[in-house]
Amino acid sequence: MGRFANKVAIITGATSGMGLDTAKLFLAEGAKVVLTGRNQEKLDALKSELSGDLLLVKAEASSVRDSKALIQQTVETFGKIDILFLNAGVFKALPLGQLSEKHFDEIYDINVKGPLMTANAAINDLNDGGTIIFNTSVSNVKGMPGVSVYGSSKAALRSIVRTLAVELAPRNIRVNAVSPGPIETPIWTKTNLTEEEVGGFAAGVSGQVPLGRFGKGTEVAKTVLFLASADASFITATEVPVDGGMAQV
Ligand SMILES: NC(=O)c1ccc[n+]([C@@H]2O[C@H](COP(=O)([O-])OP(=O)(O)OC[C@H]3O[C@@H](n4cnc5c(N)ncnc54)[C@H](OP(=O)(O)O)[C@@H]3O)[C@@H](O)[C@H]2O)c1
Repeated sequence: MGRFANKVAIITGATSGMGLDTAKLFLAEGAKVVLTGRNQEKLDALKSELSGDLLLVKAEASSVRDSKALIQQTVETFGKIDILFLNAGVFKALPLGQLSEKHFDEIYDINVKGPLMTANAAINDLNDGGTIIFNTSVSNVKGMPGVSVYGSSKAALRSIVRTLAVELAPRNIRVNAVSPGPIETPIWTKTNLTEEEVGGFAAGVSGQVPLGRFGKGTEVAKTVLFLASADASFITATEVPVDGGMAQV
C-alpha cells in the first residue's frame, strides 16, 4: 500500500511533461489517477505506457463544459476527489507592440480560466481534508522579455491560491502551488518562438538559475506529491519554488 492508497487524484494536462511525471508517481504510490489532455492520440498512447488504477479523459482545459464533464466522469468512476493538480498550461511569448487579443485570450483561457473553473466545478466533489495544487511559474515574480501575458497569467494563479486557501480552510482543504523554474519538458517545443529564439530564451533563463541547469519534471512531481501528502498537513496558501533558486536571488 502506497502513501496515496485509495486517494483519487485528478491531474490536468497529463499527456506530457510534469503532469505525466506526477501521474506516474501518484500511480506508483497507489492513487487512483485521472489524467486529462486535449489530444486523443496522446491520451491513447498512454494506455500502453501506464499501469494502475487510471482514467484517461479528453478535456479542453479552457472549457467549462469539459471541466464539469471531467468531474462527473471522475466521480462516476472512482468516487469523490482527494487531490486536484491543476497543471495544464501553455507558454508563449510576445513583446509589447506585438500583443494580440488572440494571444492574450488563449493564454488566459487555458492558464487562468481553466484551472479556476475546474476547481469551481470540483469543489462539491472534493473531500474535506483534500488538496488543490496549482502549477504557477517563476515568471510570476521575475521580469523576462516577452512574458507580460504568460507571467501575469501565473501571477493570477498565485493570487487565486491565497483566496481559495482562505475560502476552503474551514473544510481543511489545503490550496498551494508549485512554482517551477525552467524545466526540461516538451513545452519548449510548443511555443510560438523559432528554435533559435527558444534557445536564446532558454540560455538567458538558465543563466539566472543558481544551480545552473534546467530542472526535471520529476523534481516538480515529487514536490507535488509532498504538498498532496500528510507531511504537508500545515502548509496552505503558499507557493513552493522548484527553480534551482532562480526566483530567490
Ligand atoms: N517547462 C517549464 O519550464 C515550465 C516552467 C514554469 C511553469 N511551467 C508550467 O508547468 C505546467 C506544465 O507544463 P510542462 O512544462 O510540463 O509542459 P507540457 O509537457 O507541454 O505539458 C502541458 C500539458 O498540458 C496540456 N495542455 C496544454 N493546453 C491544454 C488545453 N488547452 N487543454 C488540455 N490540455 C492542455 C498539454 O497537452 P498538449 O501537448 O496536447 O498541448 C500537456 O499535456 C504548465 O502550466 C506550464 O505553464 C512550465
